[in-house]
Amino acid sequence: MKHLIDPTDLTQEELGQVISLAEDIIAHRERYQGAQSHRKLATLFYEPSTRTRLSFTAAMMELGGNVLGFSDARSSSVSKGETVQDTVRVVGCFADVIAMRHHIEGAQLYASEVSRVPIINAGDGSHSHPTQTLTDLLTIKRELGRIDGITIGFCGDLRFGRTVHSLIKALSGFKDIEVILIAPDELQLPDYIKQDVCEKLGIRYREVSSMEEVMPELDVLYMTRVQKERFLDEDEFDRVKDSFVLDSTRMSLAKEKMAVLHPLPRVNEILTEVDADPRAAYFRQVENGKFVRMALITKLLEWKDDPDHGMLEGDAPITDPSLHCTNPKCICNQERAPHRFRRSDRGGLRCWYCDAKIK
Ligand code: NCD
Repeated sequence: MKHLIDPTDLTQEELGQVISLAEDIIAHRERYQGAQSHRKLATLFYEPSTRTRLSFTAAMMELGGNVLGFSDARSSSVSKGETVQDTVRVVGCFADVIAMRHHIEGAQLYASEVSRVPIINAGDGSHSHPTQTLTDLLTIKRELGRIDGITIGFCGDLRFGRTVHSLIKALSGFKDIEVILIAPDELQLPDYIKQDVCEKLGIRYREVSSMEEVMPELDVLYMTRVQKERFLDEDEFDRVKDSFVLDSTRMSLAKEKMAVLHPLPRVNEILTEVDADPRAAYFRQVENGKFVRMALITKLLEWKDDPDHGMLEGDAPITDPSLHCTNPKCICNQERAPHRFRRSDRGGLRCWYCDAKIK
């Protein structure tokens, strides 16, 4: 069985199949209406969401299936102290596939260890958001006609922005990608992405501190919101909240064929004056999200009993009773998940669930 917890859970071939199916759904919508009429999707959202939850719901409805679940964990047994593992065991008795969003990092990976139906990670803390990545890849392909060979600028909150982390990981499977990181010091990309993804997998990257200096080089500008809810320190948030704002003057420096993406919601990092620019792709991106989720649900259900599409075999987790993950937002410090580790390429250890460096 295949779960989608991290973008790298899909092989490059499987990723290609999901994107191609999404393109076919866009071209022949009528063929897919009712295609999953006997199936049920559960959406378990422990954290606020508009687009992601509604686009999963709309995707399943367009496939003719049904949707159950909750959008506020306080109304579920979670408020009585139920663990995510127990919740997915229960929901797996009612639904064929589960999309879960959680503020705790690694919650979906932990849940997937006991689930009898595919789990889709719809965002875990600041860690990963692989279905937004599928949306982003489909959007880049539709806007530019290709994904290989692009120069992409990530701007804003690269530290807590899980969509950025996941997209960079997925781009490592494409050829000749150049990444430019545009962020204040406080919001730079975490080391584990720089070291274990960019450096290991050969993505060229550089860090700059202004948009102007790189605008003319970009094929894609990926804007992000400063993730207020993930800051522990309010003063730090106030210092950086208006860091980088995209306006028409900055757009005038960009290539004629460039695409501006944003996972949304935006706060003030893209002025509304940019919305009418043909390069502003963020609302088209939202619609692509529904089509790619239709494709993903279809493929995960098709692959469920196919031994050729299981989870990829990696190194077994390492356990050592003297070591602990110190990330307070990790599942192993929130529920009774075991402290387990993987070896990073630099020889150190990282948490199995949240990727935090183990000291
Ligand atoms: C993003 C998320 O939840 O990570 N939104 C989304 O899923 N479209 C981005 C954000 O909240 O800033």
